[in-house]
Amino acid sequence: WDFIPGWTGSTDEIPRAREPLYNVVLREVAADRERAASGTLDGASASKDFGYLPREVTADQVHLALEHDINPFTNQPHTAQYKKILESRKTLPVFAHMAEFYKIFNKHQIIIMVGETGSGKTTQIPQFVAYSDLPHTKHKIVACTQTRRVATTAVAERVADEMDVQLGQQVGYSIRFEDMTEPGTTFLKYMTDGILLREAMHDPDLSRYSTIIVDDAHERTLATDILMGVLKTLARRRPDLKLIIMSATLDALKFQKYFAVSSDALPPLFKVPGRTHPVEVSYTEEPVSDYVKAAIRLVLKIHRKEKPGDILVFLTGEEEIEDACHSIKREVKTLIDHYPGTVGPLECIPLYSWLPPQQQQRIFDPPPTAGSPGGPPGRKVVVSTNIAESSLTIDGIVYVVDPGFSKQKVYNPSTRVESLLVSLISKESAQQRAGRAGRTRPGKCFRLYTENDMSELEEQTEPEILRSNLVSTVLMLVKAGIKDLDKFDYLDEPAPESLSRALEVLNYLAAVDDDGNLTALGSIMAEFPLDPQLSKMLIISPEFKCSNEILTITSMLSVPNVWLRPSNKREEADAAKAMLTVPGGDHLMLLNVYNEYIRNQHDKDWTYNHYLSAPALLQAVSVREQLERTMGRFEVDIVSVQDQIGMSLAIKQALCCGFFMQVAHKVGGKRNYMTVNNQPVVLHPSCRLDTQPEWVIFNEFVVTNRPYIRTVTGGQPGWLLEYARLYFDLKDWPDSETKRALVRVATKMTGRFGARFDKVARIGESGEE
Ligand code: CDP
Ligand code: MG
Repeated sequence: WDFIPGWTGSTDEIPRAREPLYNVVLREVAADRERAASGTLDGASASKDFGYLPREVTADQVHLALEHDINPFTNQPHTAQYKKILESRKTLPVFAHMAEFYKIFNKHQIIIMVGETGSGKTTQIPQFVAYSDLPHTKHKIVACTQTRRVATTAVAERVADEMDVQLGQQVGYSIRFEDMTEPGTTFLKYMTDGILLREAMHDPDLSRYSTIIVDDAHERTLATDILMGVLKTLARRRPDLKLIIMSATLDALKFQKYFAVSSDALPPLFKVPGRTHPVEVSYTEEPVSDYVKAAIRLVLKIHRKEKPGDILVFLTGEEEIEDACHSIKREVKTLIDHYPGTVGPLECIPLYSWLPPQQQQRIFDPPPTAGSPGGPPGRKVVVSTNIAESSLTIDGIVYVVDPGFSKQKVYNPSTRVESLLVSLISKESAQQRAGRAGRTRPGKCFRLYTENDMSELEEQTEPEILRSNLVSTVLMLVKAGIKDLDKFDYLDEPAPESLSRALEVLNYLAAVDDDGNLTALGSIMAEFPLDPQLSKMLIISPEFKCSNEILTITSMLSVPNVWLRPSNKREEADAAKAMLTVPGGDHLMLLNVYNEYIRNQHDKDWTYNHYLSAPALLQAVSVREQLERTMGRFEVDIVSVQDQIGMSLAIKQALCCGFFMQVAHKVGGKRNYMTVNNQPVVLHPSCRLDTQPEWVIFNEFVVTNRPYIRTVTGGQPGWLLEYARLYFDLKDWPDSETKRALVRVATKMTGRFGARFDKVARIGESGEE
């Protein structure tokens, strides 16, 4: 950095010490100040050691560095692209407030920041911090958390471009099952909130990080909420750690109060005024019956009638979005064919969380140009889930179509069922969505609901912590040594029952003992980035000699849906699926698909011909490798049963060990089942279970037009009673048809528990094996 005029903030000479380097730096700064005040520090050394140290940096210095020909982080000349992007960065509201940022950042440990979506928080603030922390000079990292995978990767890619470095080197990202960082090189890391929380489990001091930026805190995801609690405590332990809590809504006082040391010492608020244009909002006269169809019609109307400008449509999920994109493309083609010269080209781009990375960046492509000079304008339509509401900003959007729905997590603790439900959005969400239209110029927002419906929406979306299954989180907290869960400092306290239910489930899974202490099994379970039911199944599977197969099934369950079912090729896709079906159930079929995929890897058309998602399968391979490494670390053996029938039985038994709470038995007519919590369900249409066994284990509970169970395999009730004794302690169960059926099974089985059962039960006991 020496070559930057006025920059003498080299930290190379700072002695290495056992205590965190920043403490040393801070102490030296304080000592220098004292010496300067007492006159014992001469002018020359003052300018060398004092004034330009990390975190004493000013905006003027950073501007010099930014404009310099050499990239200070790589020592390479800046590229032309860098300079071009720099010019566009300068127009962002956050960029204009750099001086104010450094004034606050240099002085305070915790900052609450508020700025409209698109003002440059996510892309600029972490860079500002990097220029001040100089993390690369002392092997530290600046972290910025995101609430969504897609946003994490997209933003990291953008920032790598902005900083003129290669993604995965100085700037990287980390999401579950995908780490794009280079240890020792990466100093700016975008990561999902869940990943950082996981890291806190292993290193409660998060000692690698110099500054942690919690982004989109207003989204109040479960992981963000817990993370804020962890960081709040950590900040007291590590005075050198800086925290920035960023949010897009004005309700910053809640965060200020939460992070306040005392009621009269709120952390400072760094507020960047927005730069928005007016948005004309319109409602429908009558409620619409089919919002997807209505949205598609509206897109076509906007395309034909409105002035140039791109369109953003909010729908709820992958399938809905893919179908809508397909219809829009088809309709536009028809229009262009029928009325040539009157309708411009239209690019329709989907955006949802599991979108393959190579497709993500397409949302930032410029719109297609008009077919002929002076002809009707070309337009880009992005059809997105909530991601585009505040985590990702797409430039050029002038029209927003808002049907008023999003998929939200809903958890019913009494039935222990968590599902994603298409739910009404809140007023705050509706406002955010409308705001997307006014970023670059005046825009329009079309709400596909009535003004009266709007007035009845909730003010804010309820924080996830109040409507989630807390099992995974509680396991992580217990592993991190936080035992007093009700004393944890929550921003919004979850219902005590949710916490005790979560502990109860962990107890059933033998991850914690009756006193809430982590068992040996639970300790290993927490190491896997998986739902505890899956990790339990995986760890226990060597007992049934099928860990090799369970590892594959677990990997397949951890990636997005591998089955493609394009709306114009439904029959072909179903026929292809039928060819891969095996008797016994969907889990066994997933195993078969994976094995066939590996066997046919030389044939590059295989996935295409079988209507399978190649990126999803590729990811399954990578997930499998990662899980295999974790298994290796904890000496979980990888073994296979040799004969086919034995294998199928073993797999089903291992499934029972993890998923005994997700069991249903057959009632009445075709495909109708009743869960152990007495919830009537139907086998999902995608389910290939041919025989419809008396008892089934399911992976997922989904509610669309009715409650379904998805990914289902047959099981035997005897195994449930055998492997989940605690849960199936029938004497405490209220009378029900399920209970009577199980009692009959239990009576038949009395005395039949073999040696293996004792072994399985023992693994869960604390401290043993
Ligand atoms: O975080 P905030 O919503 O305040 O803004 P941001 O995400 O930092 O976006 C600032 C600008 O960067 C916007 O104009 C985005 O369009 C642009 N951007 C981009 O071009 N590519 C990305 N992958 C992310 C942001
Ligand atoms: Mg952002």
